[in-house]
Amino acid sequence: MNAEKKIHKTDFLVIGSGIAGLSFALKTAQHFKDSTITIITKNEKNECNTKYAQGGISTVWDKTVDSFEKHIEDTLIAGDGICDEEIVKMVVEDAPDRLQELIDWGTKFDKTKDGNYSLGREGGHSQDRILHHKDITGAEIERALIEQVEKKENITFLTYHYAIDLITEHQVKKLPIKRKEKITCFGAYVLDEKKSIVKTFSAKVTMLATGGNGQVYITTTNPVVATGDGIAMAYRAKAEISDVEFIQFHPTALFNPGEYPAFLISEAVRGEGAILRDYYGERFMKKYDDREELASRDIVARAIDNELKKSGTPHVYLDCTHLDYEAFKKHFPNITEKCMSLGIDVRKDYIPVSPAQHYICGGVNINKKAKTSLKNLYASGEVTRSGLHGANRLASNSLLEGLVFSHNACENLKKRFHKIKEPQNVPVWNDSGVVKNMEKILITHDRNEVKTIMSNYVGIVRSNERLLRAERRLRVLYEDNKRLYDHSELSTDLCELRNLITTAYLITQFSKNRKENRGGFYSADLIKKEL
Ligand code: FAD
Ligand code: SIN
Repeated sequence: MNAEKKIHKTDFLVIGSGIAGLSFALKTAQHFKDSTITIITKNEKNECNTKYAQGGISTVWDKTVDSFEKHIEDTLIAGDGICDEEIVKMVVEDAPDRLQELIDWGTKFDKTKDGNYSLGREGGHSQDRILHHKDITGAEIERALIEQVEKKENITFLTYHYAIDLITEHQVKKLPIKRKEKITCFGAYVLDEKKSIVKTFSAKVTMLATGGNGQVYITTTNPVVATGDGIAMAYRAKAEISDVEFIQFHPTALFNPGEYPAFLISEAVRGEGAILRDYYGERFMKKYDDREELASRDIVARAIDNELKKSGTPHVYLDCTHLDYEAFKKHFPNITEKCMSLGIDVRKDYIPVSPAQHYICGGVNINKKAKTSLKNLYASGEVTRSGLHGANRLASNSLLEGLVFSHNACENLKKRFHKIKEPQNVPVWNDSGVVKNMEKILITHDRNEVKTIMSNYVGIVRSNERLLRAERRLRVLYEDNKRLYDHSELSTDLCELRNLITTAYLITQFSKNRKENRGGFYSADLIKKEL
């Protein structure tokens, strides 16, 4: 791997092209017309969690039946007591304005016959308040945002550019840095996959918008790009991280062995009245929560997990047979088609479903302006811990979070960007000590091992013994990966593996430190009673 000697200078470096990265880039380009904005993304422009979002975005749109207070309350209840109330209030109250912007940028949300927006419902919501585009809301958002971004002359959009590490005083002053010191971010080292060179991007402002880390588990709804790179890079740069033990498992991924990532059956399907049944056709949610199928995700996922463990069966069912098929097909064309392609006719067949990793509620700490603990490093979206989600994210609050914090970051920069100096003395990537003889298959083996460890020991229900096992095994993988990383030619696969191991280790450590069951975190040793 060659290190390019040139330094790429940009005012704003945006890492990631989901809703958080693209909306930040757009806003910044609109306001700072004379500045340069570079978006780097590790795959195609639209390949990200956002693209696969189905249900939609929550917002209080119809104030005759809904209110900010109700959306705030639903978010706090789902978060199980550890949301930051001030943040929840800010996000919920900002939501209609951010949604209007998304609409003004060309995003099309479904409307009813009378011309009003059609509002869906999902678990944990006391009202219908989800704006959606059929069951492919995220793809529609990506389409609209990318179209806008491509019109901006001051944005450079680089695909297959993989951020390896953030640049801080550690590289610039060549000094080891401590977690508590005031650290500045000066940009990032980036692997240009097509040219096989490492580029150095120096930036006045860096926006980390790298999304989640579902790929640490075997069964996840997240695409292969979700490898926790942002959390791991920020952790190595000594940024503050928290709440990563709160992993959200979606209750209803399609049970289709061999299909990775798992195809999601949107919670909005239950919002339309679909019913969960066990393997033998019996309803079971009443035993677990008065809200039954529309209880919050952590509760429904744990209920299904419990049913599966008790019965030894591989999946439960989602029954849509009693729903109006024409209306169902109109709202969920993608799900209907997917089921049909597997021979499941939702008019008469139940859909086999089981829980899958879906979302990470914690991440890089940010304040309400989207500032991290590192100077000039902002972060937005799934990579963050903003205080909105607490121990369990309320459905359809994630796309919203990305929009709100990217907006806030831009607002904050309007006040301070002119004071930020251009980074000096940023060194180019150091590729000394590299021997190029790594067997690629080792990376594949290790990646599979991380997934197996996390799925077996750090899943929906954890225990002290399981966490200890995970920790011990991950340490071995960490050492093996370090040796590979220090001496092999860099590749995206190798860097992703390093980040998967780091985030897996962080989830395990944070889980060990949590002393009570809340939301998406549940240890059998903390509460022994049956669910
Ligand atoms: P992403 O959209 O994941 O974007 C991250 C970007 O960073 C990608 O472009 C990726 O390629 C890039 N990247 C990552 N690492 C690097 C690196 N090292 N270098 C360069 N680029 C990098 N939420 C809702 O609110 N409503 C829903 O209906 C909904 N449905 C969902 C359905 C599915 C199947 C899934 C998986 C998630 C769903 N979510 C939903 C969650 C939501 O989609 C995500 O949390 C949200 O889209 C995250 O947006 P983001 O911009 O933070 O990250
Ligand atoms: C879904 O459509 O069920 C996903 C919604 C979300 O993750 O918020």
